[in-house]
Amino acid sequence: QVFARIAGTGSYLPEKVLTNEELSKIVDTSDEWIAARTGIRQRHIAAEGQTTSDLGYHAAMRALEAAGVDAKELDLIVVGTTTPDLIFPSTACLIQHRLGADGCPAFDVNAACSGFVYALTVADKFIRSGAAKTALVIGSETLTRMVDWSDRTTCVLFGDGAGAVVLKADTETGILSTHMHADGGKKELLWNPVGVSVGFKPGEDNAGVRIHMSGNDVFKHAVKALDSVVEETLEANGLDRHDIDWLIPHQANLRIIEATAKRLDMPMERVVVTVDKHGNTSSGSVPLALDTAVRSGKVQRGQLLLLEAFGGGFTWGSALLRY
Ligand code: ACO
Repeated sequence: QVFARIAGTGSYLPEKVLTNEELSKIVDTSDEWIAARTGIRQRHIAAEGQTTSDLGYHAAMRALEAAGVDAKELDLIVVGTTTPDLIFPSTACLIQHRLGADGCPAFDVNAACSGFVYALTVADKFIRSGAAKTALVIGSETLTRMVDWSDRTTCVLFGDGAGAVVLKADTETGILSTHMHADGGKKELLWNPVGVSVGFKPGEDNAGVRIHMSGNDVFKHAVKALDSVVEETLEANGLDRHDIDWLIPHQANLRIIEATAKRLDMPMERVVVTVDKHGNTSSGSVPLALDTAVRSGKVQRGQLLLLEAFGGGFTWGSALLRY
């Protein structure tokens, strides 16, 4: 049997930091409100001209270095993003060329905040089937480019950033199972209602490109969906909830993370939390949290990690892996 094992992780955050304090000068909000409702204290903002592929490229370089893999050895690149540089070519093609990995298949997966978990699942299937041996999986976003800075109910939540992993075929262990779900029936609860085919709104700011979210509804659906996918993952692997060493959740809201941890009967010391410093970086959040935990020495080789995410679509999913 062949597994896809994480050989190295990397991440990248733009330099500019926007604190809650600074945000409270732009919209009617406060550090107390944002921290109490979401756990967020600050977020990073991409510089002018800095794109999703830039962030993804830097995260990828760090992951390749950590894995000791040359870009030329890659035989697959999958990027989870909902904020691509361009409509086409894909962000994966742009990053591939910059890495000097031309030739291998490269494509984007759009599953909103579940983008990285979806992309990881795709790459896992390629490696398990023998179609690829060394894959690069990236989650990268510049979500602040589509934030309406006058809407306090959404602008306080998001940040920019990227994370990446290099997967290598391994005969011993690696990703044990992946689980993906979607429900397109709830699209209006979290979406961007304009696009190429539907059309843009030239009279509006940013041509109508902005995040619309019914926060309360999304919150309830997220908690329920994550509860069920966590149960599904444990059951599929015959595991007890106490077997998990680290929960590495999508970083949207500390209260959602705490609800999942409670479900797993996990103390918060075994949950990786970066939402306070990064905000919600959508597809970037899970690999950013993973890389932060790996580099800080928290996550050790041989430990059992549960990754999960929920996002617009709705989409949600999980991955259980032996690091
Ligand atoms: N500052 C101060 N007050 C605010 C702010 C703010 N930034 N935003 C909203 N408020 C006010 C509201 O106007 C409301 O006031 P009212 O009672 O006078 O009407 C009050 O605070 C409470 O608002 P709620 O929306 O009920 O607050 P809630 O506790 O639900 O928190 C939040 C809102 C943080 C958005 C929460 O619902 C949430 O995190 N939802 C999930 C978000 C999420 O996970 N998105 C996810 C996936 S991301 C993706 O796929 C892109």
